[in-house]
Amino acid sequence: MTVNEVRQRFLKFFEARGHTIVTSAPLVPENDPSVLFTTAGMQQFKPYYTGEKDALKDFGSKNAVSIQKCIRTSDIDEVGDATHLTFFEMLGNFSFGGYVRKEAIAYAHEFITKELELSISYVTVYKGSENVPRDEKSKENWKSLGVVDVREEGADVFWGPTGNAGPCGPTTEIYCKDANGKDVEIWNIVFNEYFCNGSREQLDKGEAKLTKLPFLGIDTGMGLERLAAILQKKESVYETDAFPTHPVSRSERIVADHTRAAEALIQEGVEPSNIGRGYVLRRLIRRAVLHADRIGTKISDRFKDEETRFRKTLTAGLKEFEKGTDPFVLFTSYGFPLELTRELAKEKGVAVDTKEFEKAFEKHKEISRAGAEKKFKGGLADTSEMSVKYHTATHLLHQALRDVLGNEVQQKGSNITPERLRFDFAFPRKMTDEEKKRVEEIVNEKIKEGLPVQKVILPLSEAKKTGALHFFDEKYPDEVLVHYVGSSLDTAYSKEFCGGPHIANTGVLGTFKIAKEEAVSAGVRRIKATLE
Ligand code: ALA
Repeated sequence: MTVNEVRQRFLKFFEARGHTIVTSAPLVPENDPSVLFTTAGMQQFKPYYTGEKDALKDFGSKNAVSIQKCIRTSDIDEVGDATHLTFFEMLGNFSFGGYVRKEAIAYAHEFITKELELSISYVTVYKGSENVPRDEKSKENWKSLGVVDVREEGADVFWGPTGNAGPCGPTTEIYCKDANGKDVEIWNIVFNEYFCNGSREQLDKGEAKLTKLPFLGIDTGMGLERLAAILQKKESVYETDAFPTHPVSRSERIVADHTRAAEALIQEGVEPSNIGRGYVLRRLIRRAVLHADRIGTKISDRFKDEETRFRKTLTAGLKEFEKGTDPFVLFTSYGFPLELTRELAKEKGVAVDTKEFEKAFEKHKEISRAGAEKKFKGGLADTSEMSVKYHTATHLLHQALRDVLGNEVQQKGSNITPERLRFDFAFPRKMTDEEKKRVEEIVNEKIKEGLPVQKVILPLSEAKKTGALHFFDEKYPDEVLVHYVGSSLDTAYSKEFCGGPHIANTGVLGTFKIAKEEAVSAGVRRIKATLE
């Protein structure tokens, strides 16, 4: 079965079972700059799990199916083995309050065992944790379908969230035997029951909280290339028809995978750089160049500029490496990404101090971050709890003013004390009583909704693309901090370039009241407001 047949079978199977076919989202997420790339099929659907968007309205069904192109660099060191890729396609079916565990498991079982005629080696289910119960239902569902080997596992089978907040939940994974006789995970079925108000890292450290989502969501993901390798009885993904050239050696595979990923990124307008997405692209191209040299091939002309840039320092860098030069110097002076140095060192059987590198790299990032934060103290006279509350209220006020008076409203200044906020903004006339009342109502609505206040550090150009409010005539550093009010940046009510500090949730602000609205100078109005 060719990869294209697998794609078609998957889409048809789920379409016949009430799923709307949704096209792949771009690799560079349009609405979620808190993540570098689309790493999973569910990402474009995040607001449908939280109830912020309505699938029935947008797709004509509560269920969707997609084939999502994904970039994942977390396993970049493993690329070259039989199953790991940085760029791959994910087959996924999704439900946003349409069906639950029973159907999700039955569909997967039917697709694998009947449609593809594969046998399942075993499945995993979540064994539970302090805050999340053991997944008894999934276990029962598998048993009732005749799958006997059901293994209970821990953190590995709790999935998500992606980015700095989002839906997540326990999963059940399906394992099948590959051509080498090894059990390979092919399908991950996630039960999105929770919203996590922080990243996965924060959740694992106990710094983020889980709250129940309004309904159970289904999110599944199956790697197309891995599945094809099993169906085509190939020893690796590279021998399937997803890779027409069938690269064999590790270097050949790295070149094939990295150039495929780099092509896809360039197609979406990413350019090589030393930060964010551009840095990932740079790493892919440079590692491909290094390995292409070893096997004596040339990589595509599409990477010419970056290749030329790298070649200027490559030979000298390799010489420096031989001398045992510090990886951070190799990065800053010779443009060697860390994993490249690490790989060279591994081949030579020498150790690299990555801790030192990471420290230096963090410091490098810290400096620009500190610059970003210093820029926006936001008129806070102090950081008492009341002042911090007023600061968050100021963001809500700013957006509410724009809602009511139009986008010509622009912040001119702000001053906050523990007793009140003061907000100056460009607007040509006095506000009417009606307008003031409406602004108060909106701010108080947003307080009642108990919205999380979150932050994300973004490269300046990305931050601007989010539409976050900022001063147009201000010079900003390369990385800025964006604060947003809402469960995702995409759907946030308010977004601003801002260094904080903010309260974690609008629910604690109390009642917002405009005490005064007056002129400060021609074309600039001033509002004083309180929280009670
Ligand atoms: N979102 C899940 C994954 O990426 C299905 O594995």
